[in-house]
Amino acid sequence: MGQRKPIMAANWKMHKTIQDIKVFFESFLQLVEGVDDREIVIAPSFIGLSDACRMTVGSKVQIAAQNMYFQEQGAYTGEISPTMLKSAGVDLVILGHSERRHIFGEDDSLIARKVRSAADHGMAAILCIGETLEEREAGLTEQVLSSQLLLGLALLESGHFASISIAYEPVWAIGTGRTASPEQIQDAHGFVRGTVENMAGEAVAQQIRILYGGSVKPGNVREIMSLEDVDGALVGGASLEPESFARIVKYE
Ligand code: 13P
Repeated sequence: MGQRKPIMAANWKMHKTIQDIKVFFESFLQLVEGVDDREIVIAPSFIGLSDACRMTVGSKVQIAAQNMYFQEQGAYTGEISPTMLKSAGVDLVILGHSERRHIFGEDDSLIARKVRSAADHGMAAILCIGETLEEREAGLTEQVLSSQLLLGLALLESGHFASISIAYEPVWAIGTGRTASPEQIQDAHGFVRGTVENMAGEAVAQQIRILYGGSVKPGNVREIMSLEDVDGALVGGASLEPESFARIVKYE
């Protein structure tokens, strides 16, 4: 993994009320005290962002949004803008999550505009990519990953790459309890790094962090994090309980 600082990120999806978030942080912050050789990220729903930012002031936990729109303001009912997120204290956003793509119909060109907008607003972004089971079984994994990367990052200029991370999340491993094998994960991550190298050069490819997501748990995180091209994890279900996510953060 070299010099890349790991990112251990929780994606809470549509879970937790503001009250639940308070309860989580009351124990979680103590459990991860003293952990400073990795970044800890938590992405609550929009409604919890301001409180989560307040509750984590002075801690090492960074709060992220799960999505955003690319425009700053306007007639876009139901959407949240980068400037709104920044006003709540959020400067990191997850973009292109498979649930956004598959349930809400986001396509690569929309996601590319969001990725560019994050960069334009000085926000870091985690771009999610990953193949479906049908695509994997049809031998299309690398084709899907390269197309999602090329299209999703298409609007960036070279200086923007420093604030981008990639999350490889095979759709068939999300919320299914079915983790990709270490070999499948390393193969995909190596391929992603190679694709980034072709796009943006070796220096960018060596510094960019590639997270794995899909049924990460305390029991499998250590093996996953030991893989050469894995620089972090993006965790859904197993991030909801403070003890469980703290064990993942510490690879215990
Ligand atoms: P699970 O950890 O619940 O499989 O979810 C993964 C995910 O989608 C994180 O973004």
